[in-house]
Amino acid sequence: MDVPVPTSFADDPAIGRVLLTEDQLVARIREIGQQLTDDYAGRAPLLVCVLRGAYVFLTDLARSIDLPVEIDFIAVSSYGATTRTSGVVRLVKDLEVDLTGRDVILVEDIVDTGLTLRYLRRSLEARGPASLEVAALLARESADLESLGVRYVGFTIPNDFVVGYGLDVAEQYRNLRFIAVYDPDAAPAAD
Ligand code: PRP
Repeated sequence: MDVPVPTSFADDPAIGRVLLTEDQLVARIREIGQQLTDDYAGRAPLLVCVLRGAYVFLTDLARSIDLPVEIDFIAVSSYGATTRTSGVVRLVKDLEVDLTGRDVILVEDIVDTGLTLRYLRRSLEARGPASLEVAALLARESADLESLGVRYVGFTIPNDFVVGYGLDVAEQYRNLRFIAVYDPDAAPAAD
């Protein structure tokens, strides 16, 4: 079957510099997968994917781990961009798997302010997992990864607005195979 793959977005003026190529992403995720395979040897970790942005990272990461992993999904939402700093995060979709005694790896696409992660950590730790670690594909240079307890990080990136590989603008661009800087001023005006 001939399935068109929307990879180029070459004519989109809002897509600027490519920050991370597909090759860079694939190589780094394989490294993290190998690290997790070593660190969790003899165990069967539960990968918890934070929807929606982390879904692409999850699929590549899970296939890079040579262990019998399980997968579940959770979704949270801030109460709108303007209230983000107020610290209000809301659970939109909960897990189905019981975390009691499980080795949980929370899979995030990006750690920015850390607000989402703080909320999720509190929520998941309260459910009695044997362990809880975080694997984030991207982290802002400004994020305090130590205090947030992020053990596995793909890339540290500057404060640019980025899209692709799961990251969106208004639900667009998640299917880009790479991560690029997004320039809102170059985007066509909305109708
Ligand atoms: C993004 C990302 C993280 C969160 C990080 O989610 O997936 O969950 O923001 O930001 P923080 O560190 O400042 O809390 P977003 O709300 O954009 O939803 P999405 O994953 O559905 O795109």
